[in-house]
Amino acid sequence: MTNIAIFASGDGSNFQSIIDAFKTKKLIVDKIILITNKQNCYARTRAKINNIKNYNFLLQDYEDKNEYERDILKTLKKENIDYIFLAGYMTMITNILLDEYNNKIINTHPSLLPSFKGKDAIQYALDYKVYLSGFTIHYVNIEMDAGEIIFQKAVRVFKKDTHDSLKKRIQKQEHKYYWQIMNKIIKGEI
Ligand code: GAR
Repeated sequence: MTNIAIFASGDGSNFQSIIDAFKTKKLIVDKIILITNKQNCYARTRAKINNIKNYNFLLQDYEDKNEYERDILKTLKKENIDYIFLAGYMTMITNILLDEYNNKIINTHPSLLPSFKGKDAIQYALDYKVYLSGFTIHYVNIEMDAGEIIFQKAVRVFKKDTHDSLKKRIQKQEHKYYWQIMNKIIKGEI
């Protein structure tokens, strides 16, 4: 039995590709739950449409981030979650979760790390006029976008690219590969 939690804050297009792989039995997990930190993010709607349990935690409802993460941890334990996969979860993970899920928290980031860390990775790639960008799947540690790299895929950046067109090209690759890398991690092949 392998149960996973997807953490998201936004549109949830990566979450959707994970749901699709789960429903077609390509992703070899037994249960998926969604953890969100934004009241109105579309990822929550996707969870509802697809009958996936969603727990929403708002930082402002807690004394501090430790208390917030302790509450998330309680839910993860209750749901017997084995791995956490971040998919556009736009806040740092702290030691509360890192200690409990050592090497079991994984993130996808829209650049070839260590270039362009942080939340504006796609804009940085355009500003620097790089020819290649892409995405990186990596373990999460206490530093932002700095954990050990698991997988990278390069994507061309064209002169005529806008934020939207580059984002689309990168996400197409994330959607194709993230669940495949999940399978490898779960099988112990990585
Ligand atoms: C993804 O492209 C992911 O790489 C990025 O947020 C997007 C979420 O899109 N993550 C980060 O920038 C983390 N620093 P989605 O909500 O449509 O899946």
